[in-house]
Amino acid sequence: MNKQPIGLFELWQETVDALTREGLLLCTVGADGKPNVMTIGWMSAGVIWGRPVVTVLVRPSRHSYGLLEQVGEFTVNVLPPQFDEAVQYCGGASGRDGDKFAHTSLTPAPAQKVRAPIVEQGVIHYECRVVHKNDVAPATLTPEIVAGAYPQGNFHRLYFGELLAVYAASDASEQLRSLSP
Ligand SMILES: Cc1cc2nc3c(=O)[nH]c(=O)nc-3n(C[C@H](O)[C@H](O)[C@H](O)COP(=O)(O)O)c2cc1C
Repeated sequence: MNKQPIGLFELWQETVDALTREGLLLCTVGADGKPNVMTIGWMSAGVIWGRPVVTVLVRPSRHSYGLLEQVGEFTVNVLPPQFDEAVQYCGGASGRDGDKFAHTSLTPAPAQKVRAPIVEQGVIHYECRVVHKNDVAPATLTPEIVAGAYPQGNFHRLYFGELLAVYAASDASEQLRSLSP
């Protein structure tokens, strides 16, 4: 599929719509070059330190967490609705137990600026380099969020990724819209 560079936040509304509908796919890679993919439902974006930054939250129990600690680079991929089943699978199975790419119709493809791959079937791609990380601090988090999101602890680590490249299929918005339920 032919993908072209877009403004860094040009398709942000479409991205947030997909984030809150089925989730997005976070790709990481280990020091051994083995890629992994997991579903994320939380992410934010803006400008910090004079740079465009997206922040993803990953719990220490995830295989992706270990990989991000090894290689501080990641991609975020927006998939059209026909891949909902695969996105769901990547949000339940762990790369620790098997190759999720091999178990789905998803294919890793080389990214432009980072070692982590993109998901070929995505229609919007964000490539990021970790410039800061920070653990959720329960003592300074609103108690109802601690109770609701962390009944078992496993507090997220926030990875702040500087956006190095953003590109999309020319018909990304249509693909994301047309098949939506
Ligand atoms: C819709 C959805 C959103 C999710 N969002 C996150 C998230 O933002 N952060 C996180 O750590 N886990 C999240 N998860 C859970 C992980 O995707 C799941 O635990 C996955 O199996 C981890 O894969 P890994 O062990 O290969 O890294 C989400 C799961 C689903 C289904």
